Amino acid sequence: MKTLLVCGGAGFIGSNFTRTMLQTYPDLRVVVYDKLTYAGRLENLQDVAADFAGRYAFVRGDIGDRALVEATVAEHGVDTIVNFAAETHVDRSILDPDAFIRTSCFGTYTLLEVARERGLRFHQISTDEVYGHIRAGASVETDPLAPRSPYSASKASADLLTLAYFVTYGVPVTITRGANNVGPYQYPEKVVPLFVTNALEDRPLPVYGDGQQMRDYQYVLDHCEAIDVVLRRGQLGEVYNVGTGQEIPNLEMVEIILNRLGKPRSLIHFVEDRQGHDRRYSLNVDKLSALGWTPRHTCQEAIAQTVDWYMANEWWWRPIKEGDFRAYYERQYGSRAVLGVGR
Ligand code: NAD
Ligand code: TYD
Repeated sequence: MKTLLVCGGAGFIGSNFTRTMLQTYPDLRVVVYDKLTYAGRLENLQDVAADFAGRYAFVRGDIGDRALVEATVAEHGVDTIVNFAAETHVDRSILDPDAFIRTSCFGTYTLLEVARERGLRFHQISTDEVYGHIRAGASVETDPLAPRSPYSASKASADLLTLAYFVTYGVPVTITRGANNVGPYQYPEKVVPLFVTNALEDRPLPVYGDGQQMRDYQYVLDHCEAIDVVLRRGQLGEVYNVGTGQEIPNLEMVEIILNRLGKPRSLIHFVEDRQGHDRRYSLNVDKLSALGWTPRHTCQEAIAQTVDWYMANEWWWRPIKEGDFRAYYERQYGSRAVLGVGR
């Protein structure tokens, strides 16, 4: 692994991964390949561009553009592709699924074709959402996939294509299925940065339904370390779950945020639920632990550190919330019925 092509590297997890890999490995080169959708931002990488100028390059492009992917791989001597590129917000996939299918299905196929043609190592970033709603117990990697939103269905399709390229063509692939990530540079449509920034602005926190849905909120850098472990020590053709292994109810996440900011519970607005909302995700992470990885943060620590980052980095999120985001917010929440207020 000498030169990585990090697809989707200008987004939340991809930018954290790029930074930590360049910091950890002095001989590694990273080329970020990103379409710069609303979620992809060069601000996320501005320190990286300054600190690692000789070992970092940026190419703006769509992963579905085969000619540009091939040219980028050839020009930079890429040997490994790590694919973070995707449309990633479940609520947006309910409003408009089109781009989700294009990027995760056709885009991932395109990258796999280039990997096949050029003999590249390929790693796909997937999600616990491909297992669907988990009534009891915890998902293991061999469980059947049962995605229930356009987002998770598009991600499951990418997983199946990735595994098919291993079986059919022998492309050296691995997959990680991560739980919910939190940390620096997460676009404030996702629940934790949305709630932290709304609370800082004394705006309501729109909690879907009863707020008893269960999520495993892991710290983004723990996830990034896990991806690195799988790239180096993972078995080809295999899938690895990544999370703390402990899920908490959304209302506990909300309490951590409000307590840390010293804001009142009256900011909690229980609103009409998400369509097809998965009540619970739960990951068994034993397979990854056997490779020697352990998370460094609990859910509670991960959320608290994230609150601190958003408090200290208004320069990053305020311009986002004042821009196009407003139109999205109005469309998503404007006519949602409020069912109750926190006391
Ligand atoms: P993000 O939305 O912050 O970033 C996605 C990035 O992909 C953006 O930079 C965007 O510009 C880029 N992109 C989108 N379509 C593209 C295309 N067609 N070609 C090239 N670039 C494109 O997302 P994130 O939260 O950083 O998630 C990254 C990956 O991790 C995704 O594959 C997601 O499914 C997966 N994942 C996310 C979480 C989470 O909690 N955020 C959890 C598990 C897995
Ligand atoms: P989200 O960050 O969208 O991640 P995902 O749905 O992919 O897990 O949402 C996390 C949880 O928070 C999920 O149970 C839905 C809930 N949620 C709300 O209650 N209100 C909101 O405004 C959002 C965006 C999410």
